[in-house]
Amino acid sequence: MSAKNKLHSSQFHPLLRKFNEQNVDILPHNLMYPIFIVEDDSSQQVIPSMPSVYRFGLKKLIDHLTPLVELGLKSILVFGVIDTLTKDETGSNADSKKNPVIKALPILRKKFPELLIACDVCLCPYTDHGHCGIIEDGVINNEKSIERIANIALEYARHGAHIVAPSDMMDNRIFAIKSRLIENGMEKNCSVLSYSAKFASGFYGPFRDAAKSIPQQGDRKTYQLPAGSRGLAIRAVRRDVEEGADMLMVKPGISYLDIVRDVKNEFPEYPMFIYQVSGEYTMLVYGAKAGAFDLKTVLTEILVSMRRAGVDVIISYFTPNILEWMKEGS
Ligand code: PBG
Ligand code: ZN
Repeated sequence: MSAKNKLHSSQFHPLLRKFNEQNVDILPHNLMYPIFIVEDDSSQQVIPSMPSVYRFGLKKLIDHLTPLVELGLKSILVFGVIDTLTKDETGSNADSKKNPVIKALPILRKKFPELLIACDVCLCPYTDHGHCGIIEDGVINNEKSIERIANIALEYARHGAHIVAPSDMMDNRIFAIKSRLIENGMEKNCSVLSYSAKFASGFYGPFRDAAKSIPQQGDRKTYQLPAGSRGLAIRAVRRDVEEGADMLMVKPGISYLDIVRDVKNEFPEYPMFIYQVSGEYTMLVYGAKAGAFDLKTVLTEILVSMRRAGVDVIISYFTPNILEWMKEGS
């Protein structure tokens, strides 16, 4: 028995409890808000599997973001979704003039000059087969895929993306993108946020509904990481660091906090992102709706656990709710 075994002496006052929590505050700059943009400027579409999340046309999106920016919103992650534009083998509409992201970028930059804008870069919302790369003879052609993905990233950068975030998980995409940006003198104006440890996950279900990007055949297990592998995860991250990634990500969030800690320990110099994905969002919304727990209490606990694991920025569909709670000051 020693005096050191007494812990309640560190916990009886709220400020003492605060002294014992390190780097777990959630401030506006710790949040990035994912949004879906569609072709028709004045539409706002319900996403059946994601209550209170919408696909917005540009006009509606501006209306939606204006009060959030006033509340302190600092950054967004933009996904394009197409309904009338065609999908083809190479995802031609990912960077065509009619692409909703390409059209929105200059306008969002102007309308919200302080807002940091990241663009997800992937083929799956634009390919007829729904996979994240180019398929030949039933398998991914990695060379052609990264070539195409680098071109798309460059177009987003040219139209005003501060950050390009490739989520495709093709081998060596970071090097391809970074080189393409450098060749075109864009590397000073555009940062690369790699979805570096992205696991094949059932938690993406509602997103695929939202982004209309369900693979027509097969799954994504040949390019997204196996859930049980810490080894491949750290190798994937190390590879992306070597290839020039500016920022790192682990995805999904809640079930992969051990990976976050591994990555933060190995690469403390890099901003560490986590993506609280669509299925995590829905799980909490439905759990709270069913009366199983209080949303704010449970979500706060999860966000703190992510920060404790080593996360700097949380990508969350709950960003509007969290900003609102911050304003209420509780
Ligand atoms: C597409 C992409 C996905 C997500 C982000 N970009 C889905 C997938 O890879 O299947 C998931 C986001 C979410 O579930 O919220 N490459
Ligand atoms: Zn994809």
